[in-house]
Amino acid sequence: MVNHRGGSYHTRGFSRRPSFFTIITLCIILLSSCSIFIFLVSTRNISDDDDDDHHKDPLVEHFNSHSQSQSQSQSNFQSGSQSLPVPDEQLWDASFSYGLHPCVKPTSKYKAAQGSDRYITVRSNGGLNQMRTGISDMVAVAYIMNATLVIPQLDKRSFWKDSSTFSDIFDELHFITSLQGDLRIVGELPKELESVPRARKHFTSWSSMGYYEEMTESLKDYQVIHVAKSDSRLANNDLPLDIQRLRCRTLYHALRFSPPIEILGKKLVERLRSRGGRYIALHLRYEKDMLSFTGCTYGLTEAESEELRIMRENTNHWKVKKINSTEQRIGGLCPLTPKEVGIFLQALGYPPSTLIYIAAGEIYGGNTHLSELMSRFPNLVFKETLATKEELKAFARHATQTAALDYIISVESDVFVPSYSGNMARAVEGHRRFLGHLKTITPDRKGLVKLFDKLEIGKLREGWSSLSSLVQKMHKSWQGAPRKRRVALPGLKGKARLRTEESFYENPYPECICSSKAEYEMR
Ligand SMILES: *[C@@H]1O[C@H](CO)[C@@H](O)[C@H](O)[C@H]1NC(C)=O
Ligand SMILES: *[C@@H]1O[C@H](CO)[C@@H](O)[C@H](O)[C@H]1NC(C)=O
Repeated sequence: MVNHRGGSYHTRGFSRRPSFFTIITLCIILLSSCSIFIFLVSTRNISDDDDDDHHKDPLVEHFNSHSQSQSQSQSNFQSGSQSLPVPDEQLWDASFSYGLHPCVKPTSKYKAAQGSDRYITVRSNGGLNQMRTGISDMVAVAYIMNATLVIPQLDKRSFWKDSSTFSDIFDELHFITSLQGDLRIVGELPKELESVPRARKHFTSWSSMGYYEEMTESLKDYQVIHVAKSDSRLANNDLPLDIQRLRCRTLYHALRFSPPIEILGKKLVERLRSRGGRYIALHLRYEKDMLSFTGCTYGLTEAESEELRIMRENTNHWKVKKINSTEQRIGGLCPLTPKEVGIFLQALGYPPSTLIYIAAGEIYGGNTHLSELMSRFPNLVFKETLATKEELKAFARHATQTAALDYIISVESDVFVPSYSGNMARAVEGHRRFLGHLKTITPDRKGLVKLFDKLEIGKLREGWSSLSSLVQKMHKSWQGAPRKRRVALPGLKGKARLRTEESFYENPYPECICSSKAEYEMR
């Protein structure tokens, strides 16, 4: 299954090719009329999890409407840039990967877990990608604890409010059989164990091998262990190679999406290919929940800012209520606005004709904000315009399933651009690294904001000589080229240290990406 995300769906058989105006019209109709559906889609990716890696600084409340300075600077932003054409291969080609390839096979010392009389049940928390990586962690944990894993229950209470079960989202049989050589997985707890006393555990996040060995010992009297949360239960680093590879086998091979999702996902990729050949998948995280959560109100009206503040105030599991939007933005903690993404992509040299798939739910403020991206890149495609109503019907009210479609389309894209870092951005980036360091351009939001502010006050102009060259220089090493996973920032201890490590699933190099046969066997 390694190769089924190889980006090789170049089928040209598909002939539906709506005009640009049809796309726009459909887009407007859908955005406004399907608000319930879209609201569900939009409230994804934020977890109710206090272990998540979001900043927790108490910030000062400040809601600043930038509409005045915005209109003054309109002329600066609108000026056409005269970028020199950037060579096609620089825009589209994957980084040179120096002969690196995925490697997930166990070492010669590896043995399947024998355990069959102890069971681990788990409630997987968070949105799609948090659940996927969490399940991969739990497979490794069950393996370490020599236990049988019961198919995880998926989060139905979180922000996603999705009733989907494991087999709605994943191919359950494939999951069980492809991990047969690693551990036993069963659909349900055996009847006779349903009433035995269970150990209910909340495993510490980012735990080591030693922690789980201790747990195995201290819980040895229990036949059933219930785990309350699945995300980030395992350390990123310093785990045995075979455990790391098991995580990769699970995430990249075993956790295949269910057939309806895989089939539609592939169809949509083919449609995109038949339209323009190459496309950018833009994870435009400019959604209401995200803006409310991060307190980012730059470029919004007073009324919009207030709406976001109230939403944050009323969402109990978001702990930080008072946020200074200006400081957030300067710190690089805000998702780029649609307008900023447009300036960014243009400065990188992408021509206006570039096909861009918007992997996201409803964009906050709808067309008012989107139009500022669309004026630069009119070939925007949404899943609502790419798929037919019939095709999307089965996915309505299932945010996790539509997120899975976005995931497939993003992994398959020629270029992936996340406007904000989050579980989805990290998971897609990691998967693309795994598959061959496919191009992922991560905006340096902190650096870009400085440039955008200069543009706004007229200290910088768009175009090749100024903005473009600065943006391109700034992002030379932010394009997904091979590098080993970043370790923690120096000087930190304990949880703070673990928090700053790069996620294993964002960059599984070196454990699951190898350069030679020798390294493959030895490490
Ligand atoms: C928000 O932060 C900015 C930059 O640090 C500062 O100038 C401004 O006064 C702050 N606003 C409030 C309301 O504290
Ligand atoms: C795993 O559990 C089985 C029994 O279910 C036992 O026979 C085996 O010795 C255990 N393996 C380890 C490494 O503890």
